[in-house]
Amino acid sequence: MRHVRAPRADSYPILLAEGGLDRWPELLSTEAGPVRFWVVTDTTVRDALGDRLLDAPGARDVVCGTLALPAGEKSKSVDTWLRILDWLGAHGARRRDIVLAFGGSVVSDVAGFAAAAFMRGIRYVNVPTSLLAQVDGSIGGKVAVNTPWAKNVLGAFHHPSAVLIDPSALTTLPRVELSNGLAEVIKCFVITPGADFDACVDRIPACLDGDLDALQWTIRAATNQKMDLVDPDPYEVDLDRVLNFGHTLGHAIEASTGYGHIRHGMAVAIGMACAVRIAVGRGLLDDDTARRIFDALHRAELPDRLTEGAEGVIEKLAAIAMIRDGRLRFVLSCGLGRTVFRDDITRAEVLAAAVG
Ligand SMILES: NC(=O)c1ccc[n+]([C@@H]2O[C@H](COP(=O)([O-])OP(=O)(O)OC[C@H]3O[C@@H](n4cnc5c(N)ncnc54)[C@H](O)[C@@H]3O)[C@@H](O)[C@H]2O)c1
Repeated sequence: MRHVRAPRADSYPILLAEGGLDRWPELLSTEAGPVRFWVVTDTTVRDALGDRLLDAPGARDVVCGTLALPAGEKSKSVDTWLRILDWLGAHGARRRDIVLAFGGSVVSDVAGFAAAAFMRGIRYVNVPTSLLAQVDGSIGGKVAVNTPWAKNVLGAFHHPSAVLIDPSALTTLPRVELSNGLAEVIKCFVITPGADFDACVDRIPACLDGDLDALQWTIRAATNQKMDLVDPDPYEVDLDRVLNFGHTLGHAIEASTGYGHIRHGMAVAIGMACAVRIAVGRGLLDDDTARRIFDALHRAELPDRLTEGAEGVIEKLAAIAMIRDGRLRFVLSCGLGRTVFRDDITRAEVLAAAVG
């Protein structure tokens, strides 16, 4: 028997540079020859930051075109994915060209998935503009769209060629979107061994106020934590990922409401609160640590319980369980920096914990 070798050696820089948006062509030029970029963004980001992107020195020489999608989660769809592919094809995008995903994680997820499919895979770079995308969605190469039956189930592992994070892009981000991004920050600080949870919590009010020093500290810490967690397993061979803390229920909440009715971070916050209550109920987590996690969520102006639609969410959870082996698998916190997986959580337990 012969084997075909198919090694992959993706690696890419994460550049954290205040003001980087104003010199991105210099920071992202990776080769001597001419590089062509196709910018995919959304209408809100285009209106808020599009001029900054295109006015950067050299930008107009390398940008072939810009496609602005409707802002919001509904754009993370098969239809949008096809629209990007059609746009690239109809305008003459080539094999060596680069898609530049400029926006929140909705843009990077759908544009990255289009880059993964176009001509069997072209390069893309992420220039994330939401806090959630800067600390989480732009890193890790998981690109996907949503379907009515479940979230993120059509997609690929297609790592970007580079990620350029400019905290100053967040100056136009509304407070509620800063809050949304803080959910993934809190998640990282809860699950990562040795993370300075109190230092993170102390900075939450300043982050919500858009303080760039606090945001820069937070983004640096959270991206380092995410890189440490993704690096050993970049293609998620191990399905038990601590990064999924809060996400099992969070995805069910988003899917059950038809996407876009509740922000991803808000759904994850409810998912984390639910996992904390289950852990306390099972004697895995002490009350004091639980109180500290809830306090962080409240400071970040995040919800900690489902106020409606709990039955629909539980139905979606059953559908998510079927995608695996029929069992619901939850990441539970058993202390700061310590997690445990459980696949024997009952519907009744989830329901009680979700509504608080
Ligand atoms: N691929 C991954 O690893 C990963 C990780 C976490 C989350 N996600 C996905 O990320 C999605 C949510 O991402 P999101 O919260 O970034 O959503 P989003 O992309 O919809 O951005 C949120 C809102 O903020 C606006 N916005 C973004 N940057 C702005 C700026 N600088 N100024 C003004 N407005 C701005 C957008 O137009 C949008 O309305 C979910 O679909 C989730 O599943 C993916």
